[in-house]
Amino acid sequence: MRKWKLGLLTAVLAVALAACGTNEANNNTPAPTEAVQPTATPEPTATPEPTATPKPTVTPKPTATPIPEFTQTFKDVYGEYGLKAGTCMSEYMCNDTRTQEFMKKNFNSITFENELKPDYVLDQAASKAAGDLVVSLRPNTLKMLQWCKDNGMAVRGHTIIWHSQTPQWIFYDNFDTSGNLVGREEMLKRMESYIKQTFEVLAEKGFSDMFYAYDVVNEAWLDDGTMRPSFWRSTIGDDYIWQAFYFADKYAPEHIDLYYNDFNEQFKTEAFYEFFQTLKDEDGNYLIDGIGFQAHLYTMDDMDLYFAHMDKMAELGLKLSLTELDVCLGKYQDIGYATDKNKKIQGQFYYDLITGIMERVKAGSVEMNSLTFWGFADELSWRQEYNPLLLDRKWNPKYAYAGALMLKEYAGFDEVTE
Ligand code: GLA
Repeated sequence: MRKWKLGLLTAVLAVALAACGTNEANNNTPAPTEAVQPTATPEPTATPEPTATPKPTVTPKPTATPIPEFTQTFKDVYGEYGLKAGTCMSEYMCNDTRTQEFMKKNFNSITFENELKPDYVLDQAASKAAGDLVVSLRPNTLKMLQWCKDNGMAVRGHTIIWHSQTPQWIFYDNFDTSGNLVGREEMLKRMESYIKQTFEVLAEKGFSDMFYAYDVVNEAWLDDGTMRPSFWRSTIGDDYIWQAFYFADKYAPEHIDLYYNDFNEQFKTEAFYEFFQTLKDEDGNYLIDGIGFQAHLYTMDDMDLYFAHMDKMAELGLKLSLTELDVCLGKYQDIGYATDKNKKIQGQFYYDLITGIMERVKAGSVEMNSLTFWGFADELSWRQEYNPLLLDRKWNPKYAYAGALMLKEYAGFDEVTE
């Protein structure tokens, strides 16, 4: 990463915006649109598939082929390809002995499921008192960071600029939603301060060195290739993503890679390919280091399309990471039954996906330094009705587990009997 000279900001911005095909950012007093309410936890939606009636879940039958206890660990297997193996971690998972043991054995990278999101770290009372947006880490976040430090875990920071799980008061005069939305200049000041403090506070608390990547912007594009409406966008303008990476590049320590992270990524190839090329400084160097593929996938997803997207993104010369991998049975709004057949299909999907990635990494066509699952046990998953993870509800390894370890023999490729 290269640090910037503020004096050249205006000229570069003009170029970035022209490339982005917008002129909204020239308007210093943007008119916020109505459709910009940050929403609660989003579901990966809008997969361009016809909607079908969701099927009820059924009690899973016992699996036909017993799956053995595996001695291989994800961190060792992926480590052979130079990747960290990661999982998301909730406060519960950090405190529970069984999940702790599983994480210590298998993973060397952690992403906090919620505890570093904007609504956790932005403090309204302190912001009102200071007249500036104030970042402060809560005791549970500090406890989780300490657990990671004590157990030698590397951390992916998640996330700073997002339309969701972001308090609305940060966009208003006096940090109070009873007033008016602030204008572009004030919001840029707040954004700069927020990003600067994010990295400062981690350094002050002694945790900065554990972080190797940070999702600076999350989910800013829609599946139709347009930018998502949000308060960030309506107050600052369409260049808000460029601004976020400009500030992150300015304040993040060199060892932390700066990521853009999104879902339904395989449907956004064209828009991403154009857009990431605008996230550069005046010398043509990227302000961004990597692209996070959330990889909230479905067994009925088209793997060729997914790899075509990955190969196209790799052409940009940025690092790529799988940041939130889980593979649901079936497809969006058409949940697959947890039958032995569907679980085998899931095992095959994990195998094909991860094998395909590692082949690319080995060949040097994809640069990837981590692969993170969004959890590991179905019972703890945010999409548990789709049984998307590696351990079943009794904590037995699924075909998916073997597939993710690239053990073809146990990944569900044997004959499928219903
Ligand atoms: C998105 C976010 C994650 C998380 C999931 C749901 O993928 O990036 O932080 O909120 O949704 O758990």
